[in-house]
Amino acid sequence: MINNRLSNIKEYHFKSLEKIKEEVTSRGYEVIDLGIGDPDLRVHESIINGIIEGLKIDGFNNYPPYDGIVNLKKEIIKYYREVFSVCLTLDEIIILIGSKEGISNLIPAICSIGDYVIVPDPAYPVYEACSYLWGCIPYKVVIKEKNNFQMDFNVIPEKIIENSKLIIINYPNNPTGAIADEAFYKNAIDFCWKNNIILCNDGAYNEIVKEKENPISLLQYGKGKKVIEFGSFSKTFNMTGFRVGFAVGDREIIKSLLKVKSNVDSSQFKPIQQAAINALKINREYIKSIRRIYDERRRITEEILKEKNIQFYNHSRSFYLWCKIPKGYTTEEFCLELLLNFGIIVTPGNAFGDSGEGYFRISLTKDKDHIIKFLKAIKVYN
Ligand SMILES: Cc1ncc(COP(=O)(O)O)c(C=O)c1O
Repeated sequence: MINNRLSNIKEYHFKSLEKIKEEVTSRGYEVIDLGIGDPDLRVHESIINGIIEGLKIDGFNNYPPYDGIVNLKKEIIKYYREVFSVCLTLDEIIILIGSKEGISNLIPAICSIGDYVIVPDPAYPVYEACSYLWGCIPYKVVIKEKNNFQMDFNVIPEKIIENSKLIIINYPNNPTGAIADEAFYKNAIDFCWKNNIILCNDGAYNEIVKEKENPISLLQYGKGKKVIEFGSFSKTFNMTGFRVGFAVGDREIIKSLLKVKSNVDSSQFKPIQQAAINALKINREYIKSIRRIYDERRRITEEILKEKNIQFYNHSRSFYLWCKIPKGYTTEEFCLELLLNFGIIVTPGNAFGDSGEGYFRISLTKDKDHIIKFLKAIKVYN
């Protein structure tokens, strides 16, 4: 080991999985990847056109503004006003090369070296890994099904609170699919305000709720109270490879984030930002149609899981299902059995933290016919 910075960090689960997947498919097995949350759905034509339009902008090849192009920020202002009734100004927004980048850069923007960063467990692994990478210590709060996977702030020791400047929450949640409600957000905001801690919601799945539901944003309740929210085009608009996201919230936090970011990268290619503008201009019925697809996949998958005696959290939004490992198996054994006997890749729960032991996550990012074909073939468990 050439440095100690990486000693607490595991290889990114989905990177290691690429190798295993390659091996299995090269042996001629048919495999369905319900592991990674990478939507299979078609990219809307107007998003593709955005790239083409972007290539015609004067100076498309030059460095973009470090905080993102103004027209995209204006479109985000409109989006937050129309969808969440939240009024933002240009300095309360920053454009990111995907929200993953922003989450990482937020840590040094807020925390001192050696601070705790309070994060959920199980969780998107980036919160823990990037806390370590930036010289902080993740303090993991186990989120529990009996609380609908909402973080319980009362269990955080005083000593940790005193040495923390940032709490990261994530609703709609990866990996559990749980959502936050108004009461939870208000309580979280009060707790953080009282303790002088910045509250960050990773809202990558804000739009992936049920078809007829209204999405909610942390900013509806926390505007003016040192909060920040990340947004992503990846999941809503099937743009994982485009790499574009944003952060909105307190202008001082946005300013600090920009200070880190502008020293680390030089923002996203303008045509991709133009594609994001076009994405936000698409009629909202389109987003409902995306939700409808996931609603159907979720319903079908839940039915099959019931037939197979596999338990799961049944209030899920986002496009994930959080399932219990059947009795008699370790997490690894079961996930391996699904892959080797039935050609199904899922994510072992412990890839999201220790409390994910005994669980696995299904990502509903494959078409329903394939989901049915593969899941119907598995055996009935005890
Ligand atoms: C909870 C969560 N946040 C952020 C991201 C990253 O999204 P982006 O593609 O915008 O970097 C993901 C991707 O899987 C995620 O699950």
